[in-house]
Amino acid sequence: MVQAGQRVGRRIGSRVRRPAPVSTEPVTVAFQLAGGAVRQGPVEGGRTLLEAARELGVDLSHYCGGRCSCGTCRVEIVEGAEGLTAMVGNEAMVLGASRADAGQRLACQARLVGPVVVRVPEWF
Ligand code: FES
Repeated sequence: MVQAGQRVGRRIGSRVRRPAPVSTEPVTVAFQLAGGAVRQGPVEGGRTLLEAARELGVDLSHYCGGRCSCGTCRVEIVEGAEGLTAMVGNEAMVLGASRADAGQRLACQARLVGPVVVRVPEWF
């Protein structure tokens, strides 16, 4: 017999879009930093831009710890927007339509599927 709580859990779970699996083949990521410096290197596919930033020693704000609630990890995609997974879940809501239209993404949500060049803005 199904309990009331289980039914609610099933309904909520059925609406959550799970990201499609992506290749783990290395891709090249370049971070353009304030002041003109560039940090780049190969990163395992499927990692988030935030994970890539950490691996490459890029200091990127992420106050909520990558939980898609603060928006401080937003970056500008300079080249290779197609090298990132599509926006799903709360990313569009946290980022906002105007920022999304301007080519920004949340680094904690965008996963690598191909080469990409990212500008790290100084928001604060
Ligand atoms: S780290 Fe908070 S939204 Fe990405």
